[in-house]
Amino acid sequence: MRAKRTQVIKPRIREILSKELPAGLVNLLPKHWVQIGDVLILPLRPELEPYKHRIAEVYAEVLGVKTVLRKGHIHGETRKPDYEVLYGGDTVTVHVENGVKYKLDVAKIMFSPANVKERVRMAEVARPGELVVDMFAGIGHLSLPMAVHKGARVIAIEKDPYTFRFLVESIWLNNVQDLMTPYNIDNRDFPAENIADRVLMGYVVKTAEFIPKALSIAKDEAIVHYHNTVPERLMPEEPFATFRRIAREHGYEAEKLNELIIKRYAPGVWHVVVDVRVFKR
Ligand SMILES: C[S@@+](CC[C@H](N)C(=O)[O-])C[C@H]1O[C@@H](n2cnc3c(N)ncnc32)[C@H](O)[C@@H]1O
Repeated sequence: MRAKRTQVIKPRIREILSKELPAGLVNLLPKHWVQIGDVLILPLRPELEPYKHRIAEVYAEVLGVKTVLRKGHIHGETRKPDYEVLYGGDTVTVHVENGVKYKLDVAKIMFSPANVKERVRMAEVARPGELVVDMFAGIGHLSLPMAVHKGARVIAIEKDPYTFRFLVESIWLNNVQDLMTPYNIDNRDFPAENIADRVLMGYVVKTAEFIPKALSIAKDEAIVHYHNTVPERLMPEEPFATFRRIAREHGYEAEKLNELIIKRYAPGVWHVVVDVRVFKR
């Protein structure tokens, strides 16, 4: 369906812009883009700089979106992306994926199309009524599907106040306010111990620092979905080897159930998730 739509869209965009752009530039028009709700993220070559606003306007009209952003980089502890607004201005939208409504500010909050499989997978692995603690909730990227599709109970912890607003709104939009409890705190300050059947550690780069906290939140036997970024030369032993070492230091045994590559994070570095069963020794 989407592929068919794209086949119609690209010729239409070319048709309009070929009348306005120097001939050699038409072939440089973006052939791929990311649409999140009614906001478009367009990668644009430097050669197209002088025409960027008009190009964005045409993409917006043909695709029916309200705002067009130019792709930047995701950085920092809160994983916020950097964007240039090329057309429109309102970057808050509702994105529907796998029957889940995500409200977010695309210019400020990461929502990676490459993570879609993992968001869908979380809906599949969740169990009705189990207690999930999402330590790095964002807008509920990974845990909303668990509540929406499986009726899992979720404690969603998000420390950034702006992201937290969208987490709360998304919970209400999906009508899972009786299942999900959001906390606007640093997960290191979360007081409850030994409560979770399942812990989500959807974070990268420094996730290992949070393993002791995840173990204290987990029940004596629980599942942890441990994400991290791993240099290729350390795979496949990492990141499970680090998880198990830290777990043993804290009196837990760890068993690897599954390991998946989410996406390439940087040259020679992969974003990986390991499903681990932990149990107190
Ligand atoms: C990269 S996003 C990932 C969202 C989601 N878990 C996923 O995997 O798609 C990480 C989120 O964790 C939040 N975060 C980072 N450190 C945190 C901490 N110590 N406590 C609570 N939230 C934290 C950030 O603000 C950000 O919204």
